[in-house]
Amino acid sequence: MDKPFVAVAGTDAIAPGKFLKVVVDNQAYIVANVDGRFYAVEDNCSHEDYPLSYGCLDGDRIKCSLHGSRFSLATGEPMDEPADEPIRTYRLVVAEGQIWLDPS
Ligand code: FES
Repeated sequence: MDKPFVAVAGTDAIAPGKFLKVVVDNQAYIVANVDGRFYAVEDNCSHEDYPLSYGCLDGDRIKCSLHGSRFSLATGEPMDEPADEPIRTYRLVVAEGQIWLDPS
């Protein structure tokens, strides 16, 4: 896989309904498996800069454990208050059993 993609995990390292926190160049990301489809978002809640990796998945959303806002893993849009700004999403490619993330 060419740059800017970086191998971050094997597909078998993240079971359906689970996520993994990965770090690339000191930046933390969440890579989630929703029914075999993988998503990547920043590991930071847009409400108060709190790690979303302390939270949990709710279907195709990630829920912040501090005040409960949920964000779409596909679009980054907040689905609940108090968050009103989206989180960043990132491109992923799955190839040969590896998950590749584009951190740019
Ligand atoms: S810090 Fe995440 S909802 Fe408040």
